[in-house]
Amino acid sequence: MSELDKTIMQNALREFDANANALLDLRKNFTKELEEGLADPSKSSLKMLPSYLNVPTGDETGVYLALDFGGTNVRVLKVKIWKHGNYKILKKIEYPLKLEGKYDFTSKNATGEQLFEFIAKLIQLTLEGNTEEILLGHTFSFPSEQLDLNNAKLISWTKEFQTQGVEGKNVTELLTNALLKRNLTHVKPVAIINDTVATLLAGAYTHANTLIGSIYATGHNTCYLEPDYNGEPMILNLESGGFSKVEQNTYDKLLDKTSEKPGEQFLEKMVAGRYVGELYSLVLKQALKSEENFSFDSLDLCNIAQNTDVKKIIKEKAQYEIQDKDEENLFIKLANNILTRSALYIAATYLGIYYHIRKLPTIAIDGSMYVKNTFLQTIIDENLKKAGGNIRSFKVYDASALGAAIAAAKAEGK
Ligand code: GLC
Repeated sequence: MSELDKTIMQNALREFDANANALLDLRKNFTKELEEGLADPSKSSLKMLPSYLNVPTGDETGVYLALDFGGTNVRVLKVKIWKHGNYKILKKIEYPLKLEGKYDFTSKNATGEQLFEFIAKLIQLTLEGNTEEILLGHTFSFPSEQLDLNNAKLISWTKEFQTQGVEGKNVTELLTNALLKRNLTHVKPVAIINDTVATLLAGAYTHANTLIGSIYATGHNTCYLEPDYNGEPMILNLESGGFSKVEQNTYDKLLDKTSEKPGEQFLEKMVAGRYVGELYSLVLKQALKSEENFSFDSLDLCNIAQNTDVKKIIKEKAQYEIQDKDEENLFIKLANNILTRSALYIAATYLGIYYHIRKLPTIAIDGSMYVKNTFLQTIIDENLKKAGGNIRSFKVYDASALGAAIAAAKAEGK
C-alpha cells in the first residue's frame, strides 16, 4: 500500500477553497455575461435559450403524460394537476438509461432511434392499454434550441452523453417517429421544456414570486423569468453549466481535458454531481500515487464530507487504509471543500441573476444533490442572505413531471 502524500492533499485543499474574492468575481461576471447574452447570445457563455413560456397562472388543470429524460433514469408519468400546486401522480414508470451488461442508451454505440424506441416502449407501459388521446409534455434536460413550444433541436449533449444521431436533430420528431412505430398515435407531444424550466413552472404553480428555477443534480443549470424579452416576459434557459468566466484550478483543468467535451461546460464540471466525485478521485490518484483511476461518486463525497463511513469508502474506492485521525481529517476536509465550493458557486450564480432582475426572487430548486443534502441547502441559503434582502429558495418535488404537465396544459391553452 502506498503512502498518502499530505502535501498534495494540503495543496488541493487550498485549490478547492472558494474564497470571497472568487465568489464576488463569479457573481459579477455572471450578471455581465447574462446581460451581454441578452444583447447578443453569441457573445456570451450563457446560452439564453427562450422557452416560449411565461410562468403559470396557477389555474392550469388536466391529466397529462410527462416524459422526464435527462439524468440517470428516464421516467414516464401520468399526472393530474388541478390548480395552485395540487397534483397527483397517477402512474409512474422509471428505468435507468444504462444497465451494466445489458444496455446503455447513453453510449456512442447507441442511436437516437434506439433510445426513443425504448422511451416509446415505456410510454406504452405507462398507458396500460388505454387508447384515449392524451397530451404529452416532455422535459428534455439538455441544451436545445427551441423552435416553438413543441419543437426543440438538441444543440449538443452534456453530462457525458454520447448517443449517436441526436445532436442537431428535432427531438420531438424523434419521439413522434418512435410513437408512430408502436402505433401510439393517440399520444400527442405538445410541449418540450428544459428541467430548469419545469422546476420554475412547478415552483411558480405553488409559490408566487418564483422567478428562478434551478437543477442541482447530475448536471447543473438555471433558468429565470426575463421580464423584458423583446417586450414580453419569457423564461430563459441559461445553460449556466456552460458558464466559462470562472477560474479553473489544476484538477478542474485535468478533468476537463479527459472529459467527453473538453473546453465546454466549465461551471458544470466544477459543481455538478456527475463531476464532484471525479474531482476527488483525481486528487486522490495523485496523493496516493496510484496508476489506477478511482471512481468516487457524489454520494461517496457527501458521505465522506459528513463523516460517514470515511474509512470504509476510502478503503473500498481507493484501496487505502487510513492510518490516523490526521489523515482521516484530510480526506473529510477535501470532500467538504469540493462540495462547499460547488454550493457557493451555485449560490453566486443565483445572486448574479438577482443583480440583473433587481427583484427579490424566490428560487425553486430540484435535483438529488440539493434535495438529499441539507448541508448544501444551508450553504446556499446562507449565501443568498448575504445579498441583504429576502431571497428565498425552496425544494420542489416531482418538478420535471409537474412542470411537463403544466407546460402541456399551457400548450392546450388552459
Ligand atoms: C445539463 C444540461 C441542462 C440541464 C442540466 C440539469 O447542464 O445541459 O440542459 O438543465 O444538465 O439537468
